[in-house]
Amino acid sequence: MSYYIVRQMQDRDIDQVTRIDREAFPNDWPPTPYGRELGNRLSYYIVVCEESEAGEKASPAADSPRPVELGPTSPLGRFTSGVRRLLRPENPSPPQMPDSRPVVGFAGIWVMLDEAHLSVIAVKQSHRRQGLGELLLISAIRKAMELNAKMVTLEVRVSNLGAQALYEKFGFRRVGIRRAYYADNREDAILMSADDITSAPFNAHLQRLARENAHKLASRQAQVVTEL
Ligand SMILES: CC(C)(COP(=O)(O)OP(=O)(O)OC[C@H]1O[C@@H](n2cnc3c(N)ncnc32)[C@H](O)[C@@H]1OP(=O)(O)O)[C@@H](O)C(=O)NCCC(=O)NCCS
Repeated sequence: MSYYIVRQMQDRDIDQVTRIDREAFPNDWPPTPYGRELGNRLSYYIVVCEESEAGEKASPAADSPRPVELGPTSPLGRFTSGVRRLLRPENPSPPQMPDSRPVVGFAGIWVMLDEAHLSVIAVKQSHRRQGLGELLLISAIRKAMELNAKMVTLEVRVSNLGAQALYEKFGFRRVGIRRAYYADNREDAILMSADDITSAPFNAHLQRLARENAHKLASRQAQVVTEL
């Protein structure tokens, strides 16, 4: 059994999130400064992390750079461990262990009055087509509701048929075109909107998709833990 933990993005996630962002949007320039975005009070970012059973941490992103290990006998290793000893306080507090659970996808919304704008959604390439994009979209819409949004809007490249299929599955409708919206190739954006996320039909549909998503993940021996 593995677990997908859905929680708010934190500073410690920024490196992993930036790697997924670059993999998903290699032509978007400059890259989104997620560190700064976390300080934006209009935005809310969600990550989904993977953990295998018995607390055993799945290995952090295989593409993560490995820390350089300095042997204690090397001159530089002896120097740094000496400096660490000198700097160590009398009663050291327990070390703050960074969460090494790998981030496998993330999404962000900006909320202005009653409108939430889905600013980004991306799943690590190796984890696509397993239901995690849906899990992130469900979580982002629920968070938008909690923040009193009534509608969710987004832009998507005309060539991005996979993402369009995802949004259409959730009831987003095409409401406009933004010509030459993307700077890299002047591609048009389709503006999509879910106009009343508080309505009973939208909620019934969202609940059904959430149930199906949980079944889909369970059939892959995965369970979702939401900590939003
Ligand atoms: C778009 C994205 C987030 C979808 O994530 P995912 O985890 O692969 O999606 P899911 O497995 O949850 O798929 C959910 C639904 O989306 C649609 N979908 C997703 N990828 C698709 C694809 N490549 N082709 C067709 N439909 C697709 C399907 O309707 C699918 O439902 P189904 O499995 O019942 O057919 C992912 O492809 C991604 O990160 N792409 C790069 C970044 C990006 O384009 N983001 C959107 C910017 S607007």
